[in-house]
Amino acid sequence: MAPEGSSTCPLHASRDDRKSARLAAGRMAPEPRMRVTETFAQAREVLRNGALKEVIPGIDRFKAEDPTKVPVIFLDGEIHRRRRAAIARFFTPKAIATRYRAVMEECSNRLLHQMQAKGGGHLDRISFQLAVTVAATIVGLTNSDQAGLASRIKVTLASGLVQKSHWAAKLVAELIRRCHALNFFIRDVRPAIAARRKQRQEDVISHLLDEGYSDTAILIECMTYAAAGMMTTREFIVMAAWHLFGNEALLQRFLTGDEADQFAILEEILRLEPIASVLHRHADEDIELPEAGPIPADTVFAIDIRAANTDEEATGPCPYAIDPDRAKQMKGIGSFMSFGDGAHRCPGAQVALHETRVFLDRLFRVPGIRLEREPDMRWCEELTSYELRNAMIACDRT
Ligand code: HEM
Repeated sequence: MAPEGSSTCPLHASRDDRKSARLAAGRMAPEPRMRVTETFAQAREVLRNGALKEVIPGIDRFKAEDPTKVPVIFLDGEIHRRRRAAIARFFTPKAIATRYRAVMEECSNRLLHQMQAKGGGHLDRISFQLAVTVAATIVGLTNSDQAGLASRIKVTLASGLVQKSHWAAKLVAELIRRCHALNFFIRDVRPAIAARRKQRQEDVISHLLDEGYSDTAILIECMTYAAAGMMTTREFIVMAAWHLFGNEALLQRFLTGDEADQFAILEEILRLEPIASVLHRHADEDIELPEAGPIPADTVFAIDIRAANTDEEATGPCPYAIDPDRAKQMKGIGSFMSFGDGAHRCPGAQVALHETRVFLDRLFRVPGIRLEREPDMRWCEELTSYELRNAMIACDRT
């Protein structure tokens, strides 16, 4: 989908630092009926237009008896705005500094000590543990063992993504999915709810209880955060580490830079390697857009995040080269569209950037740290996302 033209930059005419672009280009196939955005400006106007509704292909619009009790990602309009305002307090810079930062540091230290004791480890497993621990703190899934929580979330989410064409296979897959979801509910969600019924805490589950959510609705919201916050951050940490392992100058800049410079590097990597490659929106009625023109009712937009993030109008020259100074020069947001835009823009963006920075800053200071095996890259159709698996890192054993 993204135009794969060569850069017009005179200095880096053929430079292309992207690792996931080739895989994505071969796998991103919007349905013919969809209208695909091609530029940054088009993507922005679609994502910022309140008349275009969130839609996830393959999943029917969420139906609940009470529309205020559906997961945040499926809400739109005023209900969505109110929900986002209510959960905003869990994602403020103050919440990160006073509550989550200590969790990020403690968890990173623990995971890296374990790695050093073994002389290495699977980077994607380590990054998933970290992503689960941080997101679980925000959600309030803190009354069960964290290592078990990570594996239960992994199998529950994976079983939800299994695509089968034969009805019997579908039935079996659905039964398996429900078993995993039930196990996750009994071991992790139910104890967290019980603890918060006794005493509310400063987290999402406590907020949902105040709002009168049922146990099932809370389980579904927990799964939303798991998919939105845990799976994404796992991939991002591995992708950022892969770039830094392979680019000595960038790594030195990361290790010697201040926090702002480290964020600039991470955001620039995320611009080039967005986790969600495509977002979707639906026009319920006829509308007119300044860039895209008249849009008939029932149009589905496929918002091509990769194309938006490499549109020279927005990025300046050499859009396929890593340049941590780009956003400052272009007076834009460093991650461009990688966290979305408009009403549904990722509330966890700063959390993800902070935990990745905290972890990688420690990882790359571990004595003898090296990448023993590059990750295998595969594609997740349902999330239009790359997945990085089996990256092996090694270090001096303590
Ligand atoms: C590198 C990591 C991450 C990436 C790339 C990412 C990306 C995104 C994107 C693109 C969206 C917009 C979806 C849309 O418009 O359809 C989104 C929404 C969301 N993200 Fe993230 N995310 C990340 C981390 C997190 C974290 C750490 C959390 C929470 C702990 C989180 C929670 C959410 C939630 C709840 C939504 C739905 C918001 C809404 O619909 O209003 N994300 N994310």
